[in-house]
Amino acid sequence: MRYETFKTEQEASQAVATRIAELVSANPRIRLGLPTGSTPLGVYKELIRQHQAGLSFSEAVTFNLDEYLGLSGAHPQSYRYFMETNFFQHIDLPTWNRHLLDGVARYPELECQAYETKIQAQGGINLWFLGIGGNGHIAFNEPGSEVNSRTRIVSLTTETIEANSDGRFFKDPAEVPRCALSVGIGAIREADEIIVLALGEKKADAVFNAIQGPFDISCPASLLQDHANVTFYLDEAAASKLTRA
Ligand code: PGA
Repeated sequence: MRYETFKTEQEASQAVATRIAELVSANPRIRLGLPTGSTPLGVYKELIRQHQAGLSFSEAVTFNLDEYLGLSGAHPQSYRYFMETNFFQHIDLPTWNRHLLDGVARYPELECQAYETKIQAQGGINLWFLGIGGNGHIAFNEPGSEVNSRTRIVSLTTETIEANSDGRFFKDPAEVPRCALSVGIGAIREADEIIVLALGEKKADAVFNAIQGPFDISCPASLLQDHANVTFYLDEAAASKLTRA
């Protein structure tokens, strides 16, 4: 897997935004896979700035990685709400091209299957942009997730529940849903290109395990190692455990 290291969070985020903008300009009908969390915020800000300078998403189609089970899109901690407020409302992406798993779907298993069918019907994902959890998760594929896992209902680990209730999102671990709907690792691996952005020292161990550790389900991001087109964008803190060749 390739990786590029940047001095600061801003520079790493800027580089990811530049790559996404390049792909959107080259293929306006691009199918983009998108993450939530703290990590992508700088990328979304920069893409909004580029949109104001002329970059159009009017023909793009997006799919998000995951959603909390039990939260409707109107809930301020839902990932639908996050995407609308932090990105979609500020660009010209048509509402009907914004796809997220529905956390309150009546039949969540069917919702997961239908989501994959929708991705296939669009012709697959050109670029999945991902963050990485401190435990190496990608989307909500926690350690132990299989390489060929599909979009499904997953249980969150205590570590993830705690990471998401440190005040940035939920204030108390008790408020965090225990389950989510998540695109599987098998589905992520089907993209033409994958970008993983990791910022800060809390991600340094996961980055090391993903890039220089074994291909193993204990670090879900390591299961991207045999994909032909994966690039990690890192700030210096996130890259600090990597051993240089
Ligand atoms: P974070 O989450 O960006 O909020 O650190 C990343 C992830 O868990 O994938």
